[in-house]
Formats: sequence, C-alpha cells, structure tokens
Amino acid sequence: MSRNRTTHNRLMRRAGVAVAAGALLTGVAVYGTASAAEESAAQPPSAQNQTLREAAQSSGRFVGTAIADHRLNDSTYTAIASREFSSVTAENEMKWESVEPNRGQYNWGGADRFIAFAQQNNQQTYGHTLVWHSQMPGWLENGNFSATELNQIMHDHIATYAGRYAGQIDRWDVVNEAFNEDGTFRNSKWLQVLGEDYIADAFRAARQADPNAKLFINDYNTDGINAKSNGMYQLVQRLQQQGVPIDGVGFQSHMILGQMPGDYQQNLQRFADLGLEVVVTELDIRMDMPSNSSKLEQQARQYTSVTEACLAVSRCSGITVWGFGDRDSWVPDWFEGQGAANLYDDNYQPKPAYYAMREAFGGDGDGGSNGGGDNGGGDNGGGDNGGTGGTDPVGDCSADLQINRWNAGSVVEVRVTSQQALNGWEVTFDLPSGSVTQSWNAEVSQSGNRVTARNLGYNGNIGAGGSLSFGFQTNSGDEYATPRVSLNGTACAGS
Ligand code: G3I
Repeated sequence: MSRNRTTHNRLMRRAGVAVAAGALLTGVAVYGTASAAEESAAQPPSAQNQTLREAAQSSGRFVGTAIADHRLNDSTYTAIASREFSSVTAENEMKWESVEPNRGQYNWGGADRFIAFAQQNNQQTYGHTLVWHSQMPGWLENGNFSATELNQIMHDHIATYAGRYAGQIDRWDVVNEAFNEDGTFRNSKWLQVLGEDYIADAFRAARQADPNAKLFINDYNTDGINAKSNGMYQLVQRLQQQGVPIDGVGFQSHMILGQMPGDYQQNLQRFADLGLEVVVTELDIRMDMPSNSSKLEQQARQYTSVTEACLAVSRCSGITVWGFGDRDSWVPDWFEGQGAANLYDDNYQPKPAYYAMREAFGGDGDGGSNGGGDNGGGDNGGGDNGGTGGTDPVGDCSADLQINRWNAGSVVEVRVTSQQALNGWEVTFDLPSGSVTQSWNAEVSQSGNRVTARNLGYNGNIGAGGSLSFGFQTNSGDEYATPRVSLNGTACAGS
C-alpha cells in the first residue's frame, strides 16, 4: 500500500464515508456445510422470509456486499452473502497486490474463488479495482519506471486481467480514488509519471479488454456536492467530451452516523444527468462505540435515506455495502473507537439497519424491530434512548436534540417525532448565537437567530408516530438554553 493507515485515517477524518431464495443456497453447499443451527441463525427473522435481494429486485436495483475471501469457509457467512445480496465485490482479492504480486506473474486464486462464488449464487460481479494508488505490490510501488514503461505495465495488467475475466464481470472500478479532497488529482505514482491521461488510457484499455463490462470511476467523500465531487464531475464531463468509454461513477459512501450530506440525492442526480450510471459502491455507517439502540435506530434511518436517495435517481442501479457483519468490517482497524457500521451485528444477527434497508427497497420492514425506527412500535424500536435529551411525546410532536459543543462551534442532531403523518415538514428553532455553517438531511436557512430546516426530496414523508432527523454545525460554542422546537408551526414538547 502506498498509504499507511494513519494517513488514510487522517484523510477520512478530515473530510467527515431475481433469484429464487432456494436456488441461492447452492453456494452454501460449495463453500461449507452449514449445521442446522448455523442455518437457522442465518435465517432472516421475517414472517414472509423475504430477503434484501428480493426487496431490491422488486425496486429494480441490485444490492451488493463486499466479500472477504477468508470468510468463505464460514457457512453462516456464505449463507447470508448468497441469500441476501444480488451483487458482490471482492474486498481485497482483486486489487493489484493480490492479482499481480510479481511483474507478469499472476495469482488468480482469490479472484477465481470470488467469481465462482458469484456464479454459484447468480450474483452480479463488481470488479475492484484495476488502477489504484493503494495496495500496489512492492515491485510496482517502489519501481522507478519511465512513463513508457509504466504505461506498458498498466496496459499489460488491464489487458491480461480484465481480458481473463471478460464476460464475467458486470462492472469494473477502472480507476479508484484519483482525487484529493480539494478536487485536484491525487499525487499518485500514476499521476506523477503518466499525468492525467492515465485515467483515459485505463478506461480505453479496459473497454478493449472487456467490451461488455460497465466501466466506473470510484471515490470516497464524493457523496455530497463538494470540492472533491466537483473535481470528479468535471473530469467525467471531460472524459465524455473526449469520447473515453466511461459508463458510471461509484460513490463509496463510507459514512459517519448523523453525517449524511443533505444534497446526497442531488449529487447522484447530477452525475446521472450526464447519462452515467451511478452506484453506491462501499456503503457503511460507522459510529462511536459502544453502540446503543438509539444509535442503531439513527443508523437505520441513515441507511433508509441512502436507499431512498438511490431509488429516487433512476440511473442509480444499486447499492453495495462494504461487508455485512460488523465483525468483518474494516472500520475498527482504521478508526479507533468506532465500529458497528454494517447491517448485521458481530453474531450475524440483522440490525435495525438491515430491516430499514429492506423496507426502503419496498420489502418487509418487520423483523421484531421496526427497522427504520419510524414508528417506534417494534419490539426494540421505541424503548432505550442513549441520547442526551430523550423526551416523552406530548401533543403532536416531541423533539430531541443531541448537542455537542466546543469553544468555537457546535454540532446538533435534531430528531422530531410526530404523532401525525407528515407530507413535507418545516422545523424551526432559535440558535443561542452564531450561524449554521453546514447541514445534512435538511435544507437549512437562517434569519437572525431563527433557523428553519425543511425536508429534502427523499425524507419529507413521515408516517404517524414516525420521526424525522437532520443535523447541522454552527460556528458558535455558546450554550443552548433548551431551544423551543416547532414542527410545521406547532411547538413540540420536551426539546
Ligand atoms: O493480507 C495481509 C496479511 O497477509 C497480513 O497477515 C495482515 C496483517 O495485518 O494484513 C493483510 O492485509 C490487510 C488487507 O486488508 C487484506 O486483509 C491489510 O493489513 C489491511 O490494511 C487491508 O485493509 C483493506 C483496505 O482496503 C486497504 O486499503 C480493507 O480490508 C478493505 O476493506 C479496504 O477497502 C477499501 C477499498 O478497497 C477502497 N475504498 C476504501 C475501502 C476502505 O478503506
């Protein structure tokens, strides 16, 4: 890898990331024999026994997961991976260091296992990745190559690799993480030696090697409209103008709990409007540990928001989560004290986020929990509240504010529960001082101290007893004197 964990950690922190169910079980037989107990633990606790992939399919989308090669000998893991997901991405085995550890010597073991797993389970395949600055083998990372030589190396790799799997990969991340946070190109070996053209060259080589795969460029922290996604937007426009064969853009969406960009859908839409396919490629939503039911419900709502945003963009073809079990997540290794980012817990039991996502895809949301946390009526949906300002609903609405202050600012998470169904909402309250500098999950405006937050396109409809949530950051660390929150002009209880 060219980037160590500390650097990556710093980068991420600074910026904030139809197939019949019966047929799917063939993968279990191939990759391990599940005991009855394991199989029952892996069953979704749903009355209709509906799966995430069935729900996604009913919405015309794929739902994918990253697959960890070293977990393919665990029958609980393979049962869930095969049953619940209609697309797979190799988490590490299809990166350059795995595939071509020595120049011209290929190791296809992990990639072949990945392809076999997908084929056994009638899953789409997302190839990750052809050209990336990270997880390069030592010979490539440390080699002192001329432009001609490096260009040849890149072309050989793509021709051999994408050529070998031609017809078996649905989508390729041709170029991964080419940008800095400010929207300029990352100063990778590729850029240093080959200049910006390495990107167009890689796409052309990939199309030649596999004319049928859809070719993507993929990045993190490009989820909202910001300097980095603007850089991406300008690049793909240039590539299109030059006739470079690019089919889609991947949005990794490694997110932080409560920090979904308010313009997430709008951002996906602007790329879709260029005629490109858009995919959420590496979704996870991490939180400070330990988790509690309040955080898990909030996480469920954020998974819902991401899913609804994809569904609202017709060219958004699907969502891949970056692993499904919390125990397999990359997050705790990279972000100290954070975790619980995935759909299933450490014991492969579905979390509220699983049910929320399934419901958002149009499937069954019930599973002993209300999943999306919208009506508080499930077995674990309404009870525990680990936040700072839990309230009992009184009258039409109740408000709960989580306020984190420091000397020069504050981050506030607002959750309002409404007894009445809402078709659009407007929440108002007063700030003690200062201005809103950033917001998410709402369009926020300010007049004097009065702040008004309105729903976005994807989160205006709230069922009776359901909750809306949004957040914002301010540039003042002054204490909040229990701000009075109103919903659609009516004061709420308990804020
Ligand atoms: O393979 C070695 C193994 O031989 C060794 O014993 C072990 C000791 O730590 O390390 C193993 O390598 C690890 C590798 O994953 C394979 O498991 C690396 O340490 C570890 O750093 C590496 O992390 C991966 C990371 O990419 C590397 O950049 C994560 O699993 C993987 O989830 C993560 O995925 C990336 C996407 O590819 C691109 N987008 C961001 C995403 C999260 O960082």
